[in-house]
Amino acid sequence: MSRDDVNPNKSTVILHVVSSLDGFIAKKDNTVAWLDSPGDVYERGVSADRGQEVVEPVYCFVLGSRTYEHALELGWPYGDSPTIVVTNRELPATRKSVEFYSGDLKRLVEVVLAPRYKNIWLVGGAILCQSFLTLGLVDEIRLTIAPVLLGDGLRLFGTSEAEQRWKLKDVVAYKNGFVELSYCSAVKLS
Ligand SMILES: NC(=O)c1ccc[n+]([C@@H]2O[C@H](COP(=O)([O-])OP(=O)(O)OC[C@H]3O[C@@H](n4cnc5c(N)ncnc54)[C@H](OP(=O)(O)O)[C@@H]3O)[C@@H](O)[C@H]2O)c1
Repeated sequence: MSRDDVNPNKSTVILHVVSSLDGFIAKKDNTVAWLDSPGDVYERGVSADRGQEVVEPVYCFVLGSRTYEHALELGWPYGDSPTIVVTNRELPATRKSVEFYSGDLKRLVEVVLAPRYKNIWLVGGAILCQSFLTLGLVDEIRLTIAPVLLGDGLRLFGTSEAEQRWKLKDVVAYKNGFVELSYCSAVKLS
């Protein structure tokens, strides 16, 4: 039975993160300068403004508690958009737009969020993304590749028991040299 059969209020879960060429989403020291655009322009690329099309009206962000804590340190990037932080701890509330959730992730998606949001943007980090992937809760992967090799750091994809096939849906090359790869789950297509 697919998620569509289980819940008539079907929402789409989109895993959206930025990775280095060698597959890391964070450096060991947690610095983020590697995410800055290089000076060189990729002439055949499109303007980065196009990236703003992706967030559609009824949406929320979902993140793990470590990503949340890092975002608070760096400067909150999610504005007033509804944001759900997954944690088993009692964390202090920081913003009206933030809710905390602890418990079953399938329930989070299908019972808590699907009736409220059409698109659920899962924006990291690695631990939470891996849990979602293992549970088959991700409908789409949007992976933005930064033109840098980091050599070491936090890997987005861990070791997983099951092979999963994904179907390439779109590729966008940006003038700043970043490339966004969009995939949808081959299983959910069939
Ligand atoms: N490059 C990018 O696009 C990108 C995007 C996002 C994050 N990052 C980076 O990634 C790093 C953080 O990633 P991370 O993998 O270490 O941590 P994370 O996934 O952000 O957070 C892990 C925490 O989330 C909670 N959690 C995760 N799965 C859970 C589950 N199934 N049930 C209950 N709680 C769960 C736990 O919180 P508690 O321990 O509180 O219970 C866990 O310790 C940061 O450096 C951040 O800047 C990079």
